[in-house]
Amino acid sequence: MQIKSSEFLISSSSYKKCPKPDKAEFAFIGRSNVGKSSLINMLTNRKKLAKISSTPGKTQLINHFLINTKWYLVDLPGYGWAKASKTEKLKWENMIRGYILGRENLVSMFVLVDSRHEPQKIDTEFIDFLGEKGIPFVIVFTKADKLSKNKVSASIAAYKKKLKSTWEDLPQMITTSSSTRLGKEDVLNFIDQTLREVPF
Ligand code: GTP
Ligand code: MG
Repeated sequence: MQIKSSEFLISSSSYKKCPKPDKAEFAFIGRSNVGKSSLINMLTNRKKLAKISSTPGKTQLINHFLINTKWYLVDLPGYGWAKASKTEKLKWENMIRGYILGRENLVSMFVLVDSRHEPQKIDTEFIDFLGEKGIPFVIVFTKADKLSKNKVSASIAAYKKKLKSTWEDLPQMITTSSSTRLGKEDVLNFIDQTLREVPF
């Protein structure tokens, strides 16, 4: 699939304020600073569609983009932002939980994890939460350009090993780099395939 058009629609503070759920929706989530907004720009061939910042916590609302006039792409605020206050964390949790459990047209999530790090509790807990709730998702390893190929493979192997303790069937995994555009086709093919299987 090629992304021919991408348009920012709206930022919402609750899933109840999001666009009408009449199109298939894919949401990007992960730790703050993991590279969600960068990946979205890479996928859409746009430099500034989603706002990027080296300061964690740039994305704070549910951001909707309309892609190819057919499906929604959503940039979600990252979790694990160290400087966030307790109140901010709670606000985030309520917003994201509400979105994930309440957004009826959400067909799959992309959970981004930094390929440089060992499995982090905050990520595996989130992944387990999606599993418990039966929310489909793909794990996306980001920033692969910052590591050698061998190290990327080792990171993925470590992740698989960790997830095998709670998961019978491992989730699908895609390795990406927004700098080298690695994994672009894999992500877009997954979306394309999924769009064929949903009733939107
Ligand atoms: P929040 O919105 O704060 O949650 O962050 P985010 O997950 O949207 O991350 P963002 O895309 O803003 O990127 C964070 C930082 O990582 C920026 O400085 C990016 O330039 C950098 N970055 C993102 N993806 C890549 C990548 O694939 N390779 C490299 N080398 N740097 C990346
Ligand atoms: Mg962001």
